[in-house]
Amino acid sequence: MTEAVLYSLSGNVAVLTVNNPPVNALGQAVRQGLIEGLARANTDAAAQAVVIVGGGRTFIAGADIREFGKPPQAPDLNSVLTAIEASPKPVVAAIHGTALGGGLEVALSCHWRAAVPTAQVGLPEVKLGILPGAGGTQRLPRLVGPQMALEMITSGNPIAAKKALEVGVVDHVADGDVTAVGVAFAAQVVAEKRPLALVSQRNEKVTGVDPALFEAFRKGMEKKAKGFFSPWRCVDAVEAACTLPFAEGLKRERELFMQCMESPQRAAQIHAFFSEREAGKIPGLPADVQPKAIKSAAVLGAGTMGGGIAMNFANAGIPVKILEVSQEALSRGLGVIEKNYATSVQRGSMKQEAMDRALKLISGTQRYEDIGDADIVVEAVFEEMGVKKEVFKKLDAIMKPGAVLATNTSTLDIDEIAAATKRPQDVIGTHFFSPANVMKLLENVRGKASSPETIATVMQLGKTLRKVAVLAGNCDGFIGNRMLAGYLREANFLLEEGASPQQVDNALEAFGLAMGPFRMSDLAGLDVGWRIRKGKAHLRPQDERYSAVADQLCEQGRFGQKTGAGFYKYEGRNAIPDPVVEEIILASAKAQGIQRRAISDEEIVQRCMYPLVNEGALILEEGIAIRSSDIDITYLFGYGFPVYRGGPMFWAEQIGLDKVLATIREFHKVHGKAWTPAPLLVRSAEAGKGWPKG
Ligand code: 3HC
Ligand code: NAI
Repeated sequence: MTEAVLYSLSGNVAVLTVNNPPVNALGQAVRQGLIEGLARANTDAAAQAVVIVGGGRTFIAGADIREFGKPPQAPDLNSVLTAIEASPKPVVAAIHGTALGGGLEVALSCHWRAAVPTAQVGLPEVKLGILPGAGGTQRLPRLVGPQMALEMITSGNPIAAKKALEVGVVDHVADGDVTAVGVAFAAQVVAEKRPLALVSQRNEKVTGVDPALFEAFRKGMEKKAKGFFSPWRCVDAVEAACTLPFAEGLKRERELFMQCMESPQRAAQIHAFFSEREAGKIPGLPADVQPKAIKSAAVLGAGTMGGGIAMNFANAGIPVKILEVSQEALSRGLGVIEKNYATSVQRGSMKQEAMDRALKLISGTQRYEDIGDADIVVEAVFEEMGVKKEVFKKLDAIMKPGAVLATNTSTLDIDEIAAATKRPQDVIGTHFFSPANVMKLLENVRGKASSPETIATVMQLGKTLRKVAVLAGNCDGFIGNRMLAGYLREANFLLEEGASPQQVDNALEAFGLAMGPFRMSDLAGLDVGWRIRKGKAHLRPQDERYSAVADQLCEQGRFGQKTGAGFYKYEGRNAIPDPVVEEIILASAKAQGIQRRAISDEEIVQRCMYPLVNEGALILEEGIAIRSSDIDITYLFGYGFPVYRGGPMFWAEQIGLDKVLATIREFHKVHGKAWTPAPLLVRSAEAGKGWPKG
């Protein structure tokens, strides 16, 4: 037996304990161990049944994703499942933690499944750009019917034990030690002499299924699965379960699985999976550094961001006080929070009790003395250095020693803000994204004096608030917004060169962005950028090309959706192309002597996306981002970059850095200095490599 699966006897039941921490992934040793363990149990005269259980915190969390893309090593997972199904002695899966992907597929090939009440089961493969490849798409519909199987397999979301029992994924749920639960159930099966139940032989739920069900399901997922490859293959596979005998269905599943494995989307989505986990690892932090406990919080400012940030704390069960300058602003802010919660309850995404619980944790004040004992304070007042400094001076005076003093600034210098206090080691940026109660990214920004403990605390805060935290260095715009500048610049230039706002938006939405730059700007409000540009106008070199289209729209009072017009005019939320905008664009092009031309969608994507890559390379070389995958995570979770492309830096690697560089060099020739290739891009491309690792 391998060390990866341990063999023991509990009464007349053989127990195979998977021992592959942390999540018992089905690596080669586990697969081998399961086959050997089964063989041993079947020759062990003392064993009348077999239980498969996960050691440690969970059942099996699936195939070992790190093996993907490497040469396969025998035995494969399907041989394990065949061996389980062929066992003459009953095999029971005893589930705690999560039975996911290949883990659930192992359980589905067992004769019965027992679980503890806290367990969850699911087939999340779709989130990795693949589909369940070890019979999951054929066995699950046989247990729960095609509709439920389609929902579980195309969403990838797990269900809890209680629900799993209701729908028939598991046969038995009981409280207690999971091995004991499994052993007791197995002993009962033996005592009752139950005939072995094989899911693969159950056909009643998959015969006579109306084919219209699949067409309707495909139609229903058009919006959510747009651009993705694997969800559609998932539906094909479940359909095969309803039209083909089991063995042929398995073959079809394998073909579809292999199509997914070979798709660039698989590589991108798995990159995203590991990058998300990698982002939490901060090189250079002493191993023994402990995050500070966050049991209470304060937020300064109850505006757009402050309100959302406070909701995050309350949702995580942390009491939070919001400080505002006036009762009026406070009441307005608290009112918006309440309205947001009420909308969630109305939509059914939140229970009334959860709303009540959260609201009880949020209180308002105008007095600094009231917030002094909070473990962390997040400042979200106006984006003006003078105001921020004044506020931090006050915080320095009243916050208890050791409290984390965080700022939500989107552009300002963290070190300058920290210098307003006598405790710069406790000051750090926590950059939330709008709407802060929804967006998953937390871009933490370390100042030069931020202590390891402060850094560890805000990285942990990301987890507490159920966000994905990335650590950035301090510079104008940090990682995300600094890269965005070039993207927006080129989108605006393209208008003058011949594209329309809708062409640019459509091309980038077809690329996979949630929203194109002009629809997004209209939603965010054009006045915000206008104010910033006016403030920085004196810094702009006179010989630099500048598109004044957005400024001219603002001069006409067109601030976007909130004024009913911006780059588009609006009927409700519908963006409608507006001839007035076209006139402004044409006039702007004429004033600069730009000869308008037809622009391809491919050029739009390259012109808008390659600045992300080029600036990303600068950011990486300057150490503003720890690793290229942190840049990807920033864009995936903060900017709606399509996960099936893995993030801008990974996407560029998939194209080939040499090809990206060649195009950037062409743009440099035509459009000048802004397109100067980043030295790291040149070095990596010319060496025939990807981005430097670690
Ligand atoms: N393979 C390899 N490594 C895995 C893994 C897997 N399936 N699942 C998790 N890990 C690793 C993580 O990368 C992480 O490694 P690190 O410590 O070096 O960073 C470590 O295990 C712990 O993972 P988390 O930090 O995510 O731990 P959590 O407790 O927060 O979450 C979990 C546990 C819910 C199991 C989560 O890790 C998860 O969702 N894992 C992926 C599950 C999955 O997608 N399974 C399907 C795999 S594909 C498959 O089975 C194909 C089959 O159909 C043929
Ligand atoms: P906002 O204008 O909606 O809200 C700011 C609030 O701060 C107002 O309610 C104001 O009354 C209050 N305020 C002003 N001075 C104060 C003081 N001295 N003490 C207490 N409260 C005070 O602004 P918004 O959009 O919420 O932005 C806040 C911060 O978040 C800014 O630094 C901004 O750059 C940053 N940010 C904004 C994002 C956005 O999309 N709006 C995204 C990420 C960061």
